[in-house]
Amino acid sequence: PITLRCSSVRGVTRRGSIIATFTICSHSKEERMSLDVVIMAAGKGTRMKSARPKVLHTLAGRPLLQHVLEMSAGLGAERLITITGHGAELVESEMRAALPAAPLAFVRQEPQLGTGHAVQQAVPELADAGTTLILNGDVPLVRPQTARALIEACGGEKLVLLTVVLDDPTGYGRIVRGGVQGDRVLAIVEHKDATPAQREIREGYTGMMAAPTAHLKRWLASLKNDNAQKEYYLTDIVAMAEAEGVPVVATIASGETEVLGVNSPVQLADLERRYQRQRADELMEAGVRLRDPARFDVRGELVCGRDVEIDVNCVFEGRVELGDEVRIGANCVLRNAKIAAGAVIHPFTHMDGEAAGIEVGEGALIGPFARLRPGAKLGAEVHIGNFVEVKNSTMAKGAKANHLAYLGDAVVGERVNYGAGSITANYDGANKHRTTIEADVHVGSNCVLVAPVTLGAGATIGGGSTITKDVPAGQLAVARGRQACLNGWTRPAKAPKKPAE
Ligand code: UD1
Ligand code: CA
Repeated sequence: PITLRCSSVRGVTRRGSIIATFTICSHSKEERMSLDVVIMAAGKGTRMKSARPKVLHTLAGRPLLQHVLEMSAGLGAERLITITGHGAELVESEMRAALPAAPLAFVRQEPQLGTGHAVQQAVPELADAGTTLILNGDVPLVRPQTARALIEACGGEKLVLLTVVLDDPTGYGRIVRGGVQGDRVLAIVEHKDATPAQREIREGYTGMMAAPTAHLKRWLASLKNDNAQKEYYLTDIVAMAEAEGVPVVATIASGETEVLGVNSPVQLADLERRYQRQRADELMEAGVRLRDPARFDVRGELVCGRDVEIDVNCVFEGRVELGDEVRIGANCVLRNAKIAAGAVIHPFTHMDGEAAGIEVGEGALIGPFARLRPGAKLGAEVHIGNFVEVKNSTMAKGAKANHLAYLGDAVVGERVNYGAGSITANYDGANKHRTTIEADVHVGSNCVLVAPVTLGAGATIGGGSTITKDVPAGQLAVARGRQACLNGWTRPAKAPKKPAE
């Protein structure tokens, strides 16, 4: 809506009409600056051939739509309005859970009658003036600086389109230019409606634009569906702007990756690799040595110190911190873990800190084939060897569990040596109990420590013992059947075969 102010009354006609001069009141600065973001995500994504809505498929561990919403949340918008349709309930609940603090709004579009129809559904949610940024829920890697540039160029006054020059623009809406210099944007013509000459145009519309909100509302109200697809095309507003003399600006995207959409599993995998390559390049530029950037995956946040080395096929999830000179062997999966300086993680180690997190101390040696679970807090120079599982346990400096062992709900003192095949029996079927192993204890091989139990400092547990009572400091505890040796005993022998008759 435009506000008109009557500046002077010129007179009255014979029929009684008033002749007056009006001036158009511009919106206040605040209204001009107001920003809304509309994200189109109602489409089915038929080519994904999946029961899951397309925008919930994940890239780098997060749904496509979440990438767009997270980027948008940094733009300072009043509202982030997502148009949902296919799988709307699931899309809405997953996004609300993922971004609880963002100003999310959802509008349903049923049935889906085109991109113009999609944005029409958002009109009641939009401000009266300012800028509306329109994005796609299936174009996950659009950069914040690109979005900001569109918003700035729009300034609540111009229609700004993000375009891309492609070798093969098949399927894209074409940017039709003309005017005296031939560079004025006149219209977007959809591929299916384009003439053979228009199909030669290599500049395509990316699906992203920034529009003056007041104009946008008006243009949307007059869209028609008299086209090849019988859809309400959002792109038809370009010709409307041109006809009204509203400036139209086409900004050519600087990179291809940020304007690529996902329509199929092949495209999803391609974008995943592009994303991972970008993360890998950033880390290598910061000095991290990746053995092979093509075999490296970050699905969250990876923070690295100096002289970090990462071998092939490692996956980092959640938040992972690697201190100076940390080395990660091949085929490790690390989630929510903090590894201190100089620690070495040998191949095939799995760490999942979940919410409680995992800490690995300075100079610790972990793996190969180690498993660290939530609440594993390992001190400096701890050694965890192959097929050792540690959960919700602290191990003090220099403690070792080198082979085939389980430590759950335990407190392990300095320099403890925990033998091969030993376990803490921490679960009685109903409750978890703690095991305390004080400094310098030696636990032999194949012991069962039935919690709750305390092994006093310097105690020794004989191999094969089942320990159910506390062991005083410094003592040897042996709890197993005594060995017996029978003199003169002979092995059973087979009876000799009778010769055949
Ligand atoms: C659209 C553009 C085209 C552009 C191309 C870039 C129009 C008319 N055409 O074409 O100029 O080159 O994107 O990829 O806008 N959607 C809805 N509701 C609908 C229809 C679509 O929410 O009723 C959503 C889809 O889920 C998708 C986005 O809008 O996220 C684009 O829809 P899509 O059908 O892929 O657009 P195209 O026809 O390819
Ligand atoms: Ca379409």
